[in-house]
Amino acid sequence: MGVSAVTPIFTALLYLGLCLRQCNQIQAGTLPKPFIWADPGTIITMGRPVTIWCQGSLQAESYHLYKEQVSQPLGMWVAWNFRDKARFSIKSMSPNSAGQFQCIYNSSSGWSERSDYLQLVVTGMYSKPSFSAHPSPLVASGGNVSLLCNSKDTMDTFHLLKEGGAGPPQHRESRFSAGRHQAVFPVDSVNISHGGIYRCYGSFRFSSHVWSHPSDHVDLKVTGTFEKPSLSAHPGPSVTLGENVTLQCRSESWCDTFHLFKEGFIVPPQRLHWQNNTGPFQVNFTMSLVNSVHAGTYRCYSSHSTSPYLLSQPSDPLELIVSEAANTTSPSKHKPDFKSASNSQDYTVENLIRMGMTGLVLVVLVVLLYQS
Ligand SMILES: *[C@@H]1O[C@H](CO)[C@@H](O)[C@H](O)[C@H]1NC(C)=O
Ligand SMILES: *[C@@H]1O[C@H](CO)[C@@H](O)[C@H](O)[C@H]1NC(C)=O
Ligand SMILES: *[C@@H]1O[C@H](CO)[C@@H](O)[C@H](O)[C@H]1NC(C)=O
Ligand SMILES: *[C@@H]1O[C@H](CO)[C@@H](O)[C@H](O)[C@H]1NC(C)=O
Ligand SMILES: *[C@@H]1O[C@H](CO)[C@@H](O)[C@H](O)[C@H]1NC(C)=O
Ligand SMILES: *[C@@H]1O[C@H](CO)[C@@H](O)[C@H](O)[C@H]1NC(C)=O
Repeated sequence: MGVSAVTPIFTALLYLGLCLRQCNQIQAGTLPKPFIWADPGTIITMGRPVTIWCQGSLQAESYHLYKEQVSQPLGMWVAWNFRDKARFSIKSMSPNSAGQFQCIYNSSSGWSERSDYLQLVVTGMYSKPSFSAHPSPLVASGGNVSLLCNSKDTMDTFHLLKEGGAGPPQHRESRFSAGRHQAVFPVDSVNISHGGIYRCYGSFRFSSHVWSHPSDHVDLKVTGTFEKPSLSAHPGPSVTLGENVTLQCRSESWCDTFHLFKEGFIVPPQRLHWQNNTGPFQVNFTMSLVNSVHAGTYRCYSSHSTSPYLLSQPSDPLELIVSEAANTTSPSKHKPDFKSASNSQDYTVENLIRMGMTGLVLVVLVVLLYQS
């Protein structure tokens, strides 16, 4: 099974066995139930180590760890002389080590009650599902958003997990729709604590503790926390193909990051490196060699780098109109640029963004760093 009991101080006598009926004979007793937990957590990538801890009492003589799985007999491991807690190590996580665990301990006054269940999950067994936020990963405080997890594989259940150990995973049965197995996780009445990084996983009914690789992440950003910035176009919102235009996002209140959004298209956020806290705070998103894919409605947001998932209210929308010029030199052969600059000094960083709208790949160049 790959579970071993170890101790840094005492020598542990390891009893590893399958005890079909004997385990059930060890009745839970009257001593307070021990506390069971896993370090670094209960959702472990295949091949990585994990330690299950059982904390009982200083009088404990031995600790027993039980594993229960629908298709398998119980496994039991015993650790001796651990005083108030025992450690059971799994050196390399595998589907066999995943499952539901409980522990108990005994002392001269008998047996403890059984601990709560610990659900130990192994991930990385099947190919990753697709994951997206609808209508958008940007959601106004108080609004609703749906997180959609789906796979072409016959997954029975999908699991939603927020990074940073914020709460237990959510589970949903999958449904077959439009050629995919999918589940929707609605998030209603979004508040600031919903902002963060989400991933989903799939699993099969016959082994609910064995999950797929994680999906790509969705960064849910909650808007409406701060005062809205203003967005303006220079020289103006009406540009000719092949020209340059600058979208300037400006905030009166303190902030150090700006985000520019167009439907289905997110420009990487721009960080300002202020040397003092005097406003106004502003950044230029410069598009050179403007192309028809640049046309559309833009909004910008400000945020603080200390809470990157909380954005301001959206700026008023800005409609960028791109018109044909008399002598355009086949602008689609050029890579449209997206640059941003703050105040007087620019540094360039390259960012790639794929954009499906016209099948063109939009290469986005991002520039930023402020120094006085
Ligand atoms: C505690 O359990 C172990 C293993 O079942 C047993 O050998 C030991 O005698 C028990 N101790 C007491 C005090 O009952
Ligand atoms: C959010 O969802 C709840 C329940 O699903 C619904 O009552 C409410 O009207 C929705 N709010 C918005 C802004 O769509
Ligand atoms: C956000 O909403 C959740 C319920 O969806 C609630 O448990 C939590 O306390 C709320 N957080 C804040 C900061 O209001
Ligand atoms: C537009 O931007 C490009 C690249 O940044 C620059 O080489 C070119 O001179 C600019 N054109 C105008 C008209 O400002
Ligand atoms: C931002 O763009 C505006 C308008 O084009 C220009 O006046 C300003 O100097 C630019 N600022 C920076 C830092 O490039
Ligand atoms: C810092 O503030 C002073 C005035 O308070 C201003 O003159 C200076 O330009 C500011 N520097 C930066 C980098 O914003």
